[in-house]
Amino acid sequence: MSYILKLLKNNFLLALLSFMKSKNWVNRQKNDQFVKKAKQLGYINRAAFKLEEIEQKYKIIENSKEILELGSSPGGWTQVILNYNPKTNITCFDLLDMKMNNKRITFYREDFLKYNFINFKTKFDLILSDVAPNTTGHQSTDHLRISQLIYEVIDRLEIILNNQGSFIFKIWKGEEEKQIIKILKKKFDKVEYFKPKSSRQESSEIFILSRGFRLNEE
Ligand SMILES: C[S@@+](CC[C@H](N)C(=O)[O-])C[C@H]1O[C@@H](n2cnc3c(N)ncnc32)[C@H](O)[C@@H]1O
Repeated sequence: MSYILKLLKNNFLLALLSFMKSKNWVNRQKNDQFVKKAKQLGYINRAAFKLEEIEQKYKIIENSKEILELGSSPGGWTQVILNYNPKTNITCFDLLDMKMNNKRITFYREDFLKYNFINFKTKFDLILSDVAPNTTGHQSTDHLRISQLIYEVIDRLEIILNNQGSFIFKIWKGEEEKQIIKILKKKFDKVEYFKPKSSRQESSEIFILSRGFRLNEE
């Protein structure tokens, strides 16, 4: 009997904790200036502003004819791409459906890890990754999981990225970062960090921009 009571108490505490967390999330969304601004401007989400800040500073999208977007759902980044370069072709991958539909978008609703990129006829000028695994809440586990996805993209760069192309991705900061930067510096002319103002200060997310891909060089 006491075991059942303990179990009920634990379940109740877990439910309370998750309720409080979701309430915090709702309150934070309500007061967030970027959530408000996204609604005003018709952006699907506040994530759009992160890519917008990157583009305003580096102007990479406007010079890219073929863009690959990994983790594209629901489509905030895709909206930004089309705003800054309505003539670009965008190939999108996500496990979930997108809310965006446009003749410039080719959407694959699938795990990009399982796709054979050799099937593509053209290579890309820009690879954008906002791919994020489901979070556990354990910072170093989440960091390792997202890092693994980034390593998987890096392994495919030779097949998918044009010479002098760019690779921009999100990562949650952690111990693998140095190794990732080290590998990228051997493959790209320039590798740098960017923390957009629209990325919450308390979030460990950071963007890494790699430009000037040196195809077939170590
Ligand atoms: C932060 S969201 C992307 C938000 C998007 N950039 C936007 O602006 O709307 C991360 C996405 O990565 C996707 N994702 C995670 N692992 C994936 C995988 N292996 N293949 C394809 N998509 C994946 C998730 O389904 C999720 O929609």
